[in-house]
Amino acid sequence: MGDEGKNPSALTVRRQAPASVVPPPCLLVIFGASGDLTKRKLVPALYGLYREKLLPEAFAVLGVSRTPFSDDAFRDHLRDGSPETVDRASWDDFAERLFYQPGDIGDPQATRALGERIRAVAKDRGIPGNLIFYASVAPKFYAPLIRRIGEAGLSVPSEDLPGTRRVIIEKPFGHDLASARELSRVVSGVFPEDQVYRIDHYLGKETVQNILVFRFANGIFEPLWNRNFIDHVQITVAEEIGVEGRGDYFEEAGVVRDMIQNHLFQLLSNVAMEPPISLAADDVRDEKVKLMRSVEPVKEENVGEVCVRGQYAAGNVRGGAVPGYRAEKSVSPQSLVETYAAMRLTIDNWRWGGVPFYLRTGKRLAGRVSEIAIKFRPAPFLLFDSSVCGQLVSNYLVLNIQPQEGIFLKFGAKTPGPSICVEPVEFQFTYEQAFGVKSRPAYGRLLLDAMLGDATLFPRNDTVDISWSLLEPFLSRWKENPGRDLFFYPAGTWGPREADNLLFREGRQWREP
Ligand SMILES: NC(=O)c1ccc[n+]([C@@H]2O[C@H](COP(=O)([O-])OP(=O)(O)OC[C@H]3O[C@@H](n4cnc5c(N)ncnc54)[C@H](OP(=O)(O)O)[C@@H]3O)[C@@H](O)[C@H]2O)c1
Repeated sequence: MGDEGKNPSALTVRRQAPASVVPPPCLLVIFGASGDLTKRKLVPALYGLYREKLLPEAFAVLGVSRTPFSDDAFRDHLRDGSPETVDRASWDDFAERLFYQPGDIGDPQATRALGERIRAVAKDRGIPGNLIFYASVAPKFYAPLIRRIGEAGLSVPSEDLPGTRRVIIEKPFGHDLASARELSRVVSGVFPEDQVYRIDHYLGKETVQNILVFRFANGIFEPLWNRNFIDHVQITVAEEIGVEGRGDYFEEAGVVRDMIQNHLFQLLSNVAMEPPISLAADDVRDEKVKLMRSVEPVKEENVGEVCVRGQYAAGNVRGGAVPGYRAEKSVSPQSLVETYAAMRLTIDNWRWGGVPFYLRTGKRLAGRVSEIAIKFRPAPFLLFDSSVCGQLVSNYLVLNIQPQEGIFLKFGAKTPGPSICVEPVEFQFTYEQAFGVKSRPAYGRLLLDAMLGDATLFPRNDTVDISWSLLEPFLSRWKENPGRDLFFYPAGTWGPREADNLLFREGRQWREP
């Protein structure tokens, strides 16, 4: 029987699809407007949306930072940052929507002037209301900035500026559990949770969104997605680049705070969560938080057994010599900050009991790749003698997030010839081949969703809280003894050898992407 003949209720699509893809009018106020993120990511993403006709007619950006730009100087500064600005006419048209207001976050006078400028720009561009504030400043400014917005009365609708109020907050959200909770306290004192959009740009990537589609829009995979069929899962986010001039930030953060607390934990919850009852923001986020609550907490005294940290020493990347982390700009020559981390986590629930999840991430590794590799259990009975010819192959399903965005399944096939030889082969799907386009930049999708009021792809407060709680024993151990669990690895390799032992002692090994 085809799908048409089935019980229609089984096929019901539960989706709170936005009524229209083009958001209502709004004014986006970006704090940190002279900074790197605004120039390299936010404005190019907005320009991309403009070119796709996904921005409302009544729309403007008001940039705020201390640099004394005029509107025109701000537009020129941004044009240089956008690789897509080849089309001069469309850029010029788009740029009419960009405005600038100099001001220091610490100066109450500046906030008052900002309120007046917001009203003037809104009037100029015919924007009846709806403000979105984007905190693209250093994390230490998030709380004072949000307090200022509240004190200036900009966080609530007024007669002359009605409509919605939202705030987008860049990562990292907190430095540890206590600071994340304190920041949450300040934010929730000004904006209710449903107006808060915490950015984790990984969630804006099409391939990350595709994890849920792959799992829940296809009938064939979900029955296998559990402890009965899966041996273990590896989540890798590897970078070839080093700290790229952000040494001062990295010295404070380290890779566990910078990558694991947000990106890797988000990938983990996407791959391991239960099916949500709908794609409504809170239904999806309820399942994610439930999953994170099921991760077995690691006791401080056991951290060394389940986690290896590393720091890159001098080495070679793509044939070129590169310096070690300690020789990078703004990094202490005695630094004990990790640029690599690998950890083994388990999830205490019926689906995943006993299945290890190995997470690793690092800088200056042997390749640039983000992937989730699911290794299936071997066949229960070895019919083919591997000593005769070839090797029996483990089935891997790999969800590739970057750079080759797609999915592949590795399995064994018989090679041509009279004897039974098994060789690994692959089924492959890539975005580019299947759809003829590369997937969209993550920031564009997230900005659009924030304008539409769809928070599905933004981590909720409770998820952020639980992710910091899980890391608390790790951070506390390293605070007491900063060199603990830290090993050095030459740049251009896959990290410290000690990380191999996390898997090796259990008869497993890292996949070489
Ligand atoms: N860059 C990235 O690729 C990236 C990626 C992920 C997350 N993030 C996060 O995004 C945020 C911004 O990063 P970024 O790389 O753009 O940083 P950045 O280049 O250092 O920019 C910081 C911005 O803050 C402004 N600023 C500093 N002090 C200020 C003050 N007292 N009052 C008003 N404005 C002030 C600076 O402008 P003036 O000096 O002109 O005031 C500048 O516009 C950070 O939280 C970062 O963690 C960035």
